Amino acid sequence: MSSIRIGVFDSGVGGLSVLRHMIAQLPMVQYVYLGDTARVPYGNKSAATIAHYAAQSAWFLRNNGVDMIVVACNTVSSAALDVVESVAGVPVVGMIEPAARAAIELSVTKRIGVIGTRATIESQAYELALYTHGGTGNLTVVQHACPLLVALAEEGWLAHPATYAIVEEYLQPLLQAQIDTLILGCTHFPLLADTIEHIAPVTLVDPGYWAARQVQRVLGLQARDGAMQPHAAHVEYYVTDIPSNFAAVARQFLGFDIGKVQRASLDAVVPSSLP
Ligand code: DGL
Repeated sequence: MSSIRIGVFDSGVGGLSVLRHMIAQLPMVQYVYLGDTARVPYGNKSAATIAHYAAQSAWFLRNNGVDMIVVACNTVSSAALDVVESVAGVPVVGMIEPAARAAIELSVTKRIGVIGTRATIESQAYELALYTHGGTGNLTVVQHACPLLVALAEEGWLAHPATYAIVEEYLQPLLQAQIDTLILGCTHFPLLADTIEHIAPVTLVDPGYWAARQVQRVLGLQARDGAMQPHAAHVEYYVTDIPSNFAAVARQFLGFDIGKVQRASLDAVVPSSLP
């Protein structure tokens, strides 16, 4: 096992869909996962509030001695990556850049869809990254906020008729725009991938997978691309609300039962020299 410790944080349980890819690709690393379960969801909050919460999480992980921070939340990556970078003191990897680059590579027609929380879509971070990497000339980006899908995924309604109906409604504008690639720009959406693919048979981009590849490149580690071995995971879990609820939903995101979950306090004041 490597002595490298990576801090991974999200607004709650969703970041586990990112951690899953990291454990699969980099099982030799030690992880510290932080979910701000007391204040989730972030997706309908203002950019200023999201930035404040994100700075506190980054500060907690920094004080925990991690060597890198992965922002396993699309909403934070969209609205406050710069804030995390200024607080972290270590390299930071977010969700947007790796997923945007992958989508540009994978799309044949260069008609790309993005779905996420309201804050992610309103920030236009994905749109900007796509145009930066793909040029404005022959690229079409269509975005749509899909807030209801977060609750459906946490409820475990992955292939429920209600979920089909809601996904169908949300994806209409993207299908009409004839996208051939869709970025699942929210931690919860990869859980609904089968339903989404059924309604929109296009190439799906899971940001967590591509972010894990980016982590591997930044750290210069050798990645595996095999199936995940849960017992190979070395993870310390922290949450800001009572741990029991988290453990129950975590199984859905990770595919295995997690061990001890500790309560974290994010009250420590981030120095005022930092944002
Ligand atoms: N983790 C968030 C994201 O990826 C979704 C949940 C929330 O709104 O906090 O955007």
